[in-house]
Amino acid sequence: NRDFSNVSMAVIRRLPKYHRYLKDLLEKEVYRISSRELSKLIGFTASQIRQDLNCFGGFGQQGYGYNVEELYQEIGKILGLNKTYTTVIIGAGNLGQAIANYPSFIKYGFKLMGLFDINPKLIGMKIRDIDILDLDYLEEYISKNKVEIGIICTPKEVAQEVAERLADSNVKGIWNFAPVDIKVPKEIIVENVHLSESLFILSYLLNEKENLQG
Ligand code: NAI
Repeated sequence: NRDFSNVSMAVIRRLPKYHRYLKDLLEKEVYRISSRELSKLIGFTASQIRQDLNCFGGFGQQGYGYNVEELYQEIGKILGLNKTYTTVIIGAGNLGQAIANYPSFIKYGFKLMGLFDINPKLIGMKIRDIDILDLDYLEEYISKNKVEIGIICTPKEVAQEVAERLADSNVKGIWNFAPVDIKVPKEIIVENVHLSESLFILSYLLNEKENLQG
């Protein structure tokens, strides 16, 4: 395992985008690309692209460009997408069910083992072939199945409490969709998806444009 701990998070946060574009290129049977061409597609400058990819040892060759397949595989490895992870969803409402129904995550190694809820009408149901279980069994289930990631899709009022139960069960990571900043011990990695924050930026930009147009 190579050590990328000195690579800045700003670079890491751009990797999923490179990964997505490279996948599209492979699907179009493009096997080789220069940083200039990649720049036109992605919208980062060519020098930014060379700098970013150099952090990982530089996959490009002068006069040849990048080997798309190799770069795709390497970035996938850096992102840990060559591994598998076990996950559970807590909160099997609209969002929890939508995520459970989304097939792409499994392709990247995220295996959904179960959903948990407190609503007796939901407990016992299945989403695709995955059971909705009673929240009471959360800790037992996580330990028995060595669940690594908890996905929080509960109302925000209970998200902190759920996060603490996940932390006490020794999950490694939490993917939090509730619009609150949960607090857990720092060994546990938290990644938040705050959709409304993104929407508010859209709102700001729309307003700014209207103001400029008078
Ligand atoms: P929902 O009301 O459809 O689902 C919430 C589910 O959580 C319900 O089934 C409820 O029984 C369950 N629940 C309540 N307390 C619980 C607990 N202590 N443990 C386990 N389950 C519990 O709500 P929805 O729309 O699915 O939203 C869930 C969360 O995701 C909310 O925090 C919401 O703000 C956030 N969110 C939802 C989006 C959406 O598109 N629906 C988008 C972005 C964020």
